[in-house]
Amino acid sequence: MSKKIYIKTYGCQMNVYDSVRMADVMAPEGYTETDVIDDADLVVLNTCHIREKAAEKVYSELGRIRQLQDKRRAGGQEMLIAVGGCVGQAEGEEIMRRAPYVDIVMGSQAYHELPRLVRDAGGKGQALALDFPEVQKFDLLPEQTGAQGPTAFVAVQEGCDKFCTFCVVPYTRGAEYSRPVADVVREVTALVEEQGAIEISLLGQNVNAYHGVDAGGKVADLATLIEKLSLINGLERIRYTTSHPNDMTDRLIDAHGSIATLMPYLHLPIQAGSDRVLKAMNRKHTAAAYIDIVERLRKARPDIAFSGDFIVGFPGETEADFEETMRVETVSYASAYSFKYSPRPGTPAAEREQVAAAAKAERLERLQSLLHRQQVSFNARSVGQRMGVIFDRKGRHDGQMVGRSPYMQAVHVLDAAGLYGTLVEVEITAASGNSLTGSLLTQAAA
Ligand code: SAH
Ligand code: SF4
Ligand code: F3S
Repeated sequence: MSKKIYIKTYGCQMNVYDSVRMADVMAPEGYTETDVIDDADLVVLNTCHIREKAAEKVYSELGRIRQLQDKRRAGGQEMLIAVGGCVGQAEGEEIMRRAPYVDIVMGSQAYHELPRLVRDAGGKGQALALDFPEVQKFDLLPEQTGAQGPTAFVAVQEGCDKFCTFCVVPYTRGAEYSRPVADVVREVTALVEEQGAIEISLLGQNVNAYHGVDAGGKVADLATLIEKLSLINGLERIRYTTSHPNDMTDRLIDAHGSIATLMPYLHLPIQAGSDRVLKAMNRKHTAAAYIDIVERLRKARPDIAFSGDFIVGFPGETEADFEETMRVETVSYASAYSFKYSPRPGTPAAEREQVAAAAKAERLERLQSLLHRQQVSFNARSVGQRMGVIFDRKGRHDGQMVGRSPYMQAVHVLDAAGLYGTLVEVEITAASGNSLTGSLLTQAAA
């Protein structure tokens, strides 16, 4: 008697990984995943609380799902609605109040409990699980069963002890924790040997703060973990995200020079270019320290590309502060994300005097147009280059495949049918702001 689970994921890659794991947990209970929400016996929203808009989206989506739930119930079928992730963790009881038709709310550390929660809810009353368990969730989850495709995520670290004054993550994900080296090696090996993964992204809210125990009981850092993983046969690419500048150690910088499969791309958020604002954010680094890290990485791996995160309109940010953020253009980003500061309940900066909405909007526009120009020019410089591409999805045209360059650019290639899941050499022939076009250098087998 097979049942269907539909999972919708918001927010960061950690949530994407968690969603995969939720499906793994429900598989032994007879649930298979569906893309068709109307068919689902269980709908899970895996939510994000990082900015106000992200959280509000959840409530409007819930309103829509409620109608589907009514429809299924009128037809004698069930549709349980579960809210997981960071909104679940932060607003669990409020969700139950605001949306009483929600059957299950679970925090970001409670997915292993989903089977029990489903049984408890079972159409009668609500089930809630918000505790941070003593045992780490990673130890409570089954081995991965659902294939993630050629590029797979593996969470190696979770949580955050840094408490930037704008950020909810330390509250929604809890204290920093690193998985033991052996567990990560086992999971990555299985993904490569059994599920066809050839690229692994190591995930963590502060992934470069990784400090897992190794077989001898000693603490291993991220550089050591990457070294170990680089020995796995068939693993062509290793990435990691997201990093904090303060945890960018010399060893990790050196690894970018010495490990060929460690990709020349790094997401390294700076948030702001003004030291005064960085201090108010509790970032504990200066703009100059950040630039210095970028330069050292470029020395170790000259073709390394950077992406970053910025927040504009943080409480107290003046025009002059913002001008300093604009000066970070010297980094020359391959891509970057920028956001208006969004006050989050319970975080220190939410209580401070806020920057006017118009100033935030104007600064965001200026910054985004600068970052966009940098991205366009980075992509344009790729034309004529040869680079490896891993195809991980079909394109819109017949025979077209889309993959990723070492620098995370999307690359579209025609006549590539049959090359899904492989790493191939491509010559880049054209570039736009958002993607590249290329042609195969290695001919596809007939
Ligand atoms: N762990 C990562 C970031 C997690 S959140 C790190 O330490 O860099 C992803 C990004 O969302 C952050 O880098 C920040 O730029 C942005 N962000 C976080 N809280 C925000 C807020 N309250 N308002 C606007 N942007 C925010
Ligand atoms: Fe949030 Fe700062 Fe921790 Fe990143 S380092 S998750 S921005 S508190
Ligand atoms: Fe969002 Fe939680 Fe990730 S708040 S960004 S889903 S850690």
